[in-house]
Amino acid sequence: MGLSKVYGAGDTRVVALDEVSVSFARGEFTAIMGPSGSGKSTLMHCAAGLDSASGGSVHIGDTELTGLADKALTRLRRDKIGFIFQSFNLLPTLTALENITLPMDIAGRKPDKAWLDTVVDTVGLRDRLGHKPTELSGGQQQRVACARALASRPEIIFADEPTGNLDSRAGAEVLAFLRRSVREMGQTVVMVTHDPVAASYADRVLFLADGRVVDEMREPTSDAVLERMKQFDAAGRRS
Ligand SMILES: Nc1ncnc2c1ncn2[C@@H]1O[C@H](COP(=O)(O)OP(=O)(O)OP(=O)(O)O)[C@@H](O)[C@H]1O
Ligand SMILES: [Mg+2]
Repeated sequence: MGLSKVYGAGDTRVVALDEVSVSFARGEFTAIMGPSGSGKSTLMHCAAGLDSASGGSVHIGDTELTGLADKALTRLRRDKIGFIFQSFNLLPTLTALENITLPMDIAGRKPDKAWLDTVVDTVGLRDRLGHKPTELSGGQQQRVACARALASRPEIIFADEPTGNLDSRAGAEVLAFLRRSVREMGQTVVMVTHDPVAASYADRVLFLADGRVVDEMREPTSDAVLERMKQFDAAGRRS
């Protein structure tokens, strides 16, 4: 709540987040939109504990992230949070399956076999599990990254422009998968995107501008999102 992030000081001071208060309901798919530099990635990184806030607090379930010691934070990130990056971040020497289970292998945890099967089938990668990332298409690589985020059953998944590097067909595969993980597995997903079509897969859209949440839309359609973005552009030019 009241989350702030300030970079630098004096002349180079940037308020990336200005007392943002948001919550992400369990089992809901939220898209975050806004102009470049509006603070979307900063919000995701602070909410996921990848970066520390300058003020305010972050809660995941009953746990307050802010103020946790490094070790506890690392454990919480590992157990409760999944992160999907724009650039997949897969290890090239490992197979798809090894990439998916890597975080759990590092943590010394045994994957729940039945759950892993469900995840693999949902991403539709059963016949590609032995392939290395270079032997997979972009969409397939990103689906491996999605499976990796889901495999440990995190409480929440953050995805920063997960379809930014994909063509529209591969992007649609990944978006359909994220939506299915919310609908069928009760997953909570927060996704940054610039694309109104991608946003339309979500249950709600938060619009950020200058480090603040300036609007929210439920049951978005791509047309409605596009309209809203045009209004913001016009308002931006007037001020
Ligand atoms: N490490 C940093 N040091 C200083 N300023 C930063 C740093 N990271 C981000 N900023 C600034 O904070 C603001 C918000 O950045 P952020 O990356 O959150 O934007 P964004 O909405 O994700 O943009 P984009 O759509 O381009 O990814 C920007 O003005 C940016 O220049
Ligand atoms: Mg960003």
